[in-house]
Amino acid sequence: MSVIETNPFATVIQMAGGYCLPRSLHVVADLGVADALEETPRTATDLAASVGAHPEALGRILRLLAAHEVFEMQGDTFSHSPASRLLRTDHPQSMRAFAQMFGLPIFWATFEALGHSVRTGLPAAETTFPEGFWAYLAQRPEEGRVFNAAMGAKAQGAVAGILASYDFSGFGLIGDIGGGSGHLLHAVLDNAPNARGVLFDLPHVIEEAAGVASERLALQAGDFFRDALPTCDAYLLMEIIHDWGDEEAVAILRAIRGAAPLHAKLLVIETIVPDDPNPDWSKMLDIHMLALLGGRQRTRQEYEELLAQSGFLLQREIDTRAGISILEALAA
Ligand SMILES: C[S@@+](CC[C@H](N)C(=O)[O-])C[C@H]1O[C@@H](n2cnc3c(N)ncnc32)[C@H](O)[C@@H]1O
Repeated sequence: MSVIETNPFATVIQMAGGYCLPRSLHVVADLGVADALEETPRTATDLAASVGAHPEALGRILRLLAAHEVFEMQGDTFSHSPASRLLRTDHPQSMRAFAQMFGLPIFWATFEALGHSVRTGLPAAETTFPEGFWAYLAQRPEEGRVFNAAMGAKAQGAVAGILASYDFSGFGLIGDIGGGSGHLLHAVLDNAPNARGVLFDLPHVIEEAAGVASERLALQAGDFFRDALPTCDAYLLMEIIHDWGDEEAVAILRAIRGAAPLHAKLLVIETIVPDDPNPDWSKMLDIHMLALLGGRQRTRQEYEELLAQSGFLLQREIDTRAGISILEALAA
């Protein structure tokens, strides 16, 4: 989204009112407009009839999206752009669930209450959905499925980068803690044929992930704050620590430290906040974490400190060149 304009008035205008753009993306993803559009260009009237929308309103929404490279507009017809193709359900790298996730009530309604976070430092979600983010998803299976699919979708680039930059072949048993649908662990085991894996996540997530289980991939339901964690040679912790404030983050890391044999490697996989002042996805993700979960994106230094407080020593940071880093740590 190009909201940064050279003219300062335009910067404020575009940024203040620009939220209609992501909201249009959520709605179009929900309606399945990209699925209704094949290779032949179609008018908005025609598409609206397929997806049950108002023809003129849909045309205006698609005109806005096309101005930002989602769909292409030629006269009164629309065709696919590379970005709109990613909104198709059948695209092998579909990002439809990712676009839908940000439109779920827990995301969108929570941002109405962002002022609460700014005033208090607490998650805005506690005013909108006091049961908390994870309980919200557990209680709404349909939305939980969208979230888990979105996690798989967003991880595609990251998984490729992780596999290209880290050798997992020497590990016997690899635990993916908070591994969601098992997308990372499954790919890691494909790359390390002699390794076995344990996918650890909340019970409703593990239930949904049943299809990924195999002779080499075991499932373990539990809560990493309460339940015993598996004993493994390596632990994957992808985009878990950013969900939590420092106190809970240390509790999760200490739980792993308590379960891990001395030789075990911990791989904290996160998008690191860079030290420069430039626009960066990590700075947006950081505000999502603040508002939704009371979590945060962290700098490398902040991770090093959290690890030290939890009994780990950061050995190295591997930049996967896929927008995410692997922080490799060992017992201190
Ligand atoms: C942001 S998602 C990350 C999923 C996956 N690691 C990835 O990066 O794609 C966080 C995961 O933590 C899990 N989770 C949250 N609270 C948990 C808890 N108390 N115990 C175990 N897993 C938990 C969620 O169910 C979810 O799958």
